[in-house]
Parts: sequence; C-alpha cells; structure tokens
Amino acid sequence: METTEIKENVHWIGAVDWNVRDFHGYSVWKGTTYNAYLVMDEKVALFDTVKKTSMAEFRKHLSQLIDPPKIDYIIVNHVEMDHSGCLPEIMELVKPEKLICSLMGKKALLDHFHREDWPYEVVKTGQSINLGKKTVEFIETRMLHWPDSMFSYIKEDGLLISSDAFGQHWATSQRFDDEVDGPELMAHAAKYYANILLLYSPLVQKLLTKVQELGLEINMIAPDHGLIWRTSPDKIIAAYDKWSKQEPLDKAVIIYDTMWHSTEQMARAIYDGLLIHGVNVKLMNLRVNHRSDVMTELLDAKAVIFGSPTLNNGILPRLADILAYIKGLKPKNKIGAAFGSFGWSGEAVGVLNKAMEDMKIEVIDPGVKVKNVPTEDQLKECYALGSKIGQAITSA
Ligand code: FEO
Repeated sequence: METTEIKENVHWIGAVDWNVRDFHGYSVWKGTTYNAYLVMDEKVALFDTVKKTSMAEFRKHLSQLIDPPKIDYIIVNHVEMDHSGCLPEIMELVKPEKLICSLMGKKALLDHFHREDWPYEVVKTGQSINLGKKTVEFIETRMLHWPDSMFSYIKEDGLLISSDAFGQHWATSQRFDDEVDGPELMAHAAKYYANILLLYSPLVQKLLTKVQELGLEINMIAPDHGLIWRTSPDKIIAAYDKWSKQEPLDKAVIIYDTMWHSTEQMARAIYDGLLIHGVNVKLMNLRVNHRSDVMTELLDAKAVIFGSPTLNNGILPRLADILAYIKGLKPKNKIGAAFGSFGWSGEAVGVLNKAMEDMKIEVIDPGVKVKNVPTEDQLKECYALGSKIGQAITSA
C-alpha cells in the first residue's frame, strides 16, 4: 500500500488493518483503516497517527514522503488509541515544534501518555494556524465521539479532516468513495453511525447546524477510518442529518434467541403478522447475528420486538448482551413488544418489557408467553401481535 495525494500537497499516509475483526464489541468483518494525513507546505503538519500495531506501515509511509524530523506540527484531532497509539514513538522521531490539540485533547493526552514535557498548543473552535499557502482552522466537536474530538479544516482546499466522524470500518486498497461500490460504502457508513455515533445524535444535529453557520465550503471529507469522500461529501452529510434525526421507516426488527425452537416458532408467526402490513421485517436470531449488525438494522426501524425463553427466572444471555448494548446507544422513536416460551415460571417477557421501558421504547402490548411448545392458537396470538405492531407502524 502506497501513500496517496488527496489534494495538492496533502497526503493520506495511514495504515490498512485487514485482520482486525473486533473493535471493542463492534464487528469489523471487513477490517478497517487508520487514516493519517500529511500536509507539506512551508510548514509540514501531520494530522493524527495510527494504532500501535500498524506502526511499521505508518512509518514506512511517512518516510516515503519526508524525513520525519522535518515535520513541524503534529495535530491530534482525537486521542483514542487507534489514532494515537504510535504517538509516543512518532514524538521521539519527529520532535515537533508544536503538538496541537483541543483543551480536552491535552487532558486526554496527559491521561494516556503522562508526558508533561510535550510541546502542547491548545486550540479552540475558530482558531487557525498558517502553514504557508494553506490555513488550518479548528472546530471542536466535543463528544463526537470523545470529549477531545475536533475537526481540522483546510480552507484553501475545502478539505475537512473529520476525525472519526463520517468514517467507515472497511479495509480497502482504494482511498476514495468513487472507487468503491456505493451501496456497500453507505452500508458501512450506516453501521458505523449506528454503533458509534447514534447516542450523540442530538450533538450531530447541532454540529451540522454549526458547520452551516461557519459557512465552510466542503468539497472533500477525509475521515480517520475508511474511504475519503471526494465525490460525495454532500451525500454523507445528508445521511448524517437523516440518521441523527432518527425518523424511522416502516420497518420492524425481531430480535430473539431460542432454546428448543418454541420462541423461534413464535418469532416466525409474529413475522408473518407484520408482513401483511407491507412492513420491512428483519428476523434476527442472536445466535447468528452479531450485536452490531442488529444495531445497524435498528437504526431506521420503527419497531423492535424482543423474544427470549425464560432461563433461570430471567432471559437468555444473548438477550442480556444486546439489551445492554442497545441501551447504551439510546435509540429513539421506537415502539416495542416482547414474547417468549417458558417451562414453569415465565419471567422473560416481563424482564424484556421492563428493559424496553428503561430504554424509553414504547411497549404497545403486554406480549405473548407460551408454556413449553406453542399450540396453533398460541401461534395465532403471535400472528395477531405481529399484525398489531404492523398496524401501529403503518398508521404512525
Ligand atoms: Fe477511531 Fe474514536 O477512534
């Protein structure tokens, strides 16, 4: 993999991680990239570094373009270790004049690396530095998705270096949006939003407004993961606007696990009941669907229906996992219901209802419980539950 000039004298010098499959609970089935950028002007600036395990590739890229001590500034847009893991080694190599970051970035760098002696220069929204022909303006993006996060905007190029925002976890040999399959790119971007940024949706709305107010002319977005938006920066901005509004589609996601297939039979009957209303339904057995793929389907769904048999007076472990995960991401504007089989005590449906209430999902039915194996009549009850939810979705 070689470096890529993305704008005149602005180079992608990141690393492609083809082998990573888990990103603290998010399944990155197709790997990821850690993007870093080098701007070679009268002053030379490096934007972010990469994960420690990718140091060799990163250093090779850096050395192809410049003798590292000739770098003047290192800009840390985000301190999370996938972008700063190499920083201590790079600091030793480069010894930059300035290490530029937000105030929260400085605190995070101190908490991570405990180096009081680094040449920190704290910047705020609206501040800029001149590199020669190019000017870099900084925009703090607190909690998108860490307190330290910020954007760097090179106005002469209309280039927004956007840290984690607008990224995708997708390892590719291509660097630009127009070089890959468009629908697959948007699917990766949606998964990334659903699993990383969803809970910050109100802040995303504010940020998009702020970017408009600042009047930034953006003709390229270079995120810290995945493809660079060269041809369609407007498309990803519009998608973030849509996703952050959380306006649901006529769609339902049935999320379940099963012991002896009774709960699964119930899930299928609910599915049939939903279908007669023309609703897009995803039937997701947690044994074969990863939590982050479930979360992606939930992004634009109106209804979520949880199913679990009762185990030890509670729910199956995979349900507990997905409930904790969804709760943390705070999806909004959803209705829900629960179902499940049981042997003797039957607490699962109550546990699921309570979990949905805690997540502010509107539970529109007490749910269906079946002892051991469902009868034809009980499956009709499940079908009726599906139909009731379908009705609620399409009449909303
Ligand atoms: Fe890609 Fe928040 O790090």
